[in-house]
Order: sequence, then structure tokens, then C-alpha cells
Amino acid sequence: MNPLVEPAPRGPLLGVNVDHVATLRNARGGDFPDPVQAALHALRGGADIITFHLREDRRHIRDADVLGLREQVQVPLNFEAALTAEMLDIIERTRPQMVCLVPERRQEVTTEGGLDVRGQFERVRDGCARLADAGCRVSLFIEAEPAQIDAAAASGAPCVELHTGAYANAVDAGDDALAQRHLQRLRAGIEQARAAGMRTHAGHGLNLRSTAALAAMPAIDELHIGHALVGHALFVGMEQAVRDYKACIERAAGQRP
Ligand code: PXP
Repeated sequence: MNPLVEPAPRGPLLGVNVDHVATLRNARGGDFPDPVQAALHALRGGADIITFHLREDRRHIRDADVLGLREQVQVPLNFEAALTAEMLDIIERTRPQMVCLVPERRQEVTTEGGLDVRGQFERVRDGCARLADAGCRVSLFIEAEPAQIDAAAASGAPCVELHTGAYANAVDAGDDALAQRHLQRLRAGIEQARAAGMRTHAGHGLNLRSTAALAAMPAIDELHIGHALVGHALFVGMEQAVRDYKACIERAAGQRP
């Protein structure tokens, strides 16, 4: 069975984002802690996918990390990148199994908001075609907005990743009513993308409180989680942190109708 194609029997696959290990390393300019080693520990804990974002300013993951991940990680890599000529070249050389196209602004702390597929449709469509030729499965990181999902489906991308930041923030703020509204919006988006024949991923800002409700949705294929999982790993170790997230996902998926 190809886990990137078949629906996951035990809930959505978990992509572990190792960017924040690189952030910690870069704080002192040396080579510790190493995001590649973190990825190998995450695999031992049961990570299905390793996710990383090579930003234009290289603020966390560096080019050498990408090579190290490619050489040493045996599960699919999900390479998050902005749609730029430089990134397309690097991706074509690296040939990760998966690419997630994200918007990128230099001043932002993290990826704020989704990609505007509708507003730059030809550019996204051409990028998706080029990446498909390189053998990469492309997802577009978008808001759960009907017009963006329609545009994503028309662009030829086989997958969407829906931005869960607003939902996760509402959970963290203890605003249940708002969290439920965002969850409903995400559920509708996932169903729309599924009906258009796409695979459905979600991520951003998720932690052990906000992950379960998404994992319980039958139509969701992958969750990509970084900051909170790496933070949890500081206390329990990377392997255990991944096990805790996998257990949370599998428990929630087991309660699906
Ligand atoms: N998915 C995408 C597309 C992202 O850009 C990020 C952040 O790099 C994540 C998921 C993970 O977000 P977080 O680190 O908040 O869990």
C-alpha cells in the first residue's frame, strides 16, 4: 500500500516539521541541535513524513540541511517553499516526494495566511506542472475559502493543505464558539477539496489540544505539525513527542463515525 495515495486506516498521516530545531541551532550559529538528527528521532517515534521549509532568508533550515534530509531520511519529505525561481531550481535538484507551496513574506514570524492561488492562477498552475514533471506531489497551502479551493483544484495540484492557524489560536484562547466556527469552515473546505478529487492536508499552530478534532474528520489525509511538537519534545524527547501526537491522532480517528 502506498501511504501517500491510500486513505490512512489509522487516521491522518503525521508530518513532523523540523524547522524549529534549526531555529534553536541557529541561535548559537553552530551545528547543534541538528534538524536531520531530529528527523531521525522523529522517525523512530513514528513520524510518517518529515516536513521542512527552506525560506528565502534561510532563517532556520539551510541548504545543507535539505541535502542531509534527502540523504538520510527514509520516509517521504515534504519540502515547503515559496513559488520562486530559486526554490523551483533547488526542488528540481533535490526531488523530494512532496512539495507544499506556501506564501512567504520576509517580515512575518511564521507563514501568515494561505497562498492566493486565485490571484496568481497561471503562475501557480505552471509551477505545479513543473513540479509534477520533477516527480513531486504538490500541495497548495491555502485558507479554507471556497474560491481558493476551486482555484487549487483547477491548478492541477493533487493536494491542498488547509491553514489551521485561526482555529488553533481560538482553541489556545479558550474561545470554544470561535474554534467551532473555524472547525466548521475547515470541515467544509476539506469536503469541497475531497469532492474535487484532491487529497486533504491541514496544519499550522496545532498542538495536543487542537489536533484531535481535525484528526477525527474522516476526510483528512495528513496533518503537518512543528512548533508545538518540537516544544513538547524539549520535555519528553523527540521520539516520545511524536508518539504522543500519533496516539492523539489515532485515538481521535478511532472515534470517527
Ligand atoms: N504547514 C505549513 C504549510 C507551514 O508553513 C507550517 C509552518 O512552517 C506548518 C504546517 C507547521 O506549523 P507549526 O509549526 O505552527 O505547527
